[in-house]
Amino acid sequence: MRRLRASESLRRVVRETRLSPDDFILPLFVCPGEAVRREIGAMPGNYQLSVDQAVKECAGVAALGIGGVIFFGIPESKDESASGAAADDGVVQQALRAVKREVPGLLLITDVCNCEYTSHGHCGKVVDGDVDNDLTLTWLAATAVSHARAGADVIAPSDMMDGRVAAIRQALDSAGFPNKPILSYAAKYASVFYGPFREAAESAPQFGDRRSYQMDPANAREAIREIELDIAEGADMVMVKPAMPYLDIIRQARDHFSLPLGAYQVSGEFSMIMAAAQNGWIDLDRAIVESLTSIRRAGADFILTYFARRATELIS
Ligand code: PBG
Repeated sequence: MRRLRASESLRRVVRETRLSPDDFILPLFVCPGEAVRREIGAMPGNYQLSVDQAVKECAGVAALGIGGVIFFGIPESKDESASGAAADDGVVQQALRAVKREVPGLLLITDVCNCEYTSHGHCGKVVDGDVDNDLTLTWLAATAVSHARAGADVIAPSDMMDGRVAAIRQALDSAGFPNKPILSYAAKYASVFYGPFREAAESAPQFGDRRSYQMDPANAREAIREIELDIAEGADMVMVKPAMPYLDIIRQARDHFSLPLGAYQVSGEFSMIMAAAQNGWIDLDRAIVESLTSIRRAGADFILTYFARRATELIS
């Protein structure tokens, strides 16, 4: 076996998995204000960006050839009914309009969820201490339509309510967006690895946790069922999240389904690698390439990753 490992020129030729900037989607956090570029403590090199700064960031991302961005919003104020999520002048809607105008070729995905917009930090309408599924669907559908109106290219629901893909598909169709694709966070686990994101998006639940709607990390067959349901409801692409602790799920999803498959290397995955590197315990650049390669090798077509920029520099 060692004959083919003897030199980089040979290794290159027999390499089975390759990374390309096309495969990367960079998550961005948009906040109110102007000229705001506030670094997120637990995610060095990632920022809460006001719309003008998000435009700049997106111009850089497009110049690097990165596949696209996904927007998360931090609204001016939060309330019980997540009213900032579907607001026509909400932060994400403003960012969509500005970036579409200034950086027209860049693929813009939007995360559709309520947790960044509710005062209690849960992903939907709370009734008797738990998130009410069907009441939340109307919120999600309204948010999806407002994102489509503002210029989103792909709608990505991450809330894990049952029936959200069907509700969003129907709402988009009747609002005149029958061609707007849905990327469903189909198998999304109740993961501790979202910790740093909740600082970034200021979305930690104020009581309880998300285990009544996100998946139990112990379950694999259930992931297949979640994905089947989302496809039946009209999802155009599906996603597994987080990525590295769930490579087996990515592989099973790849083997079961022919739809484009995404994986989200989440905030905690980013922060663990970053923290170890900052301590001098691990080589950052090699960890970036190896971790992303493992996610592609497991079967993901594209990866949402906070390393999108550095990874692109490393492979080009
Ligand atoms: C919104 C959402 C979350 C993430 C993406 N969309 C947080 C959560 O579900 O608590 C996490 C992303 C990351 O950790 O990088 N529901």
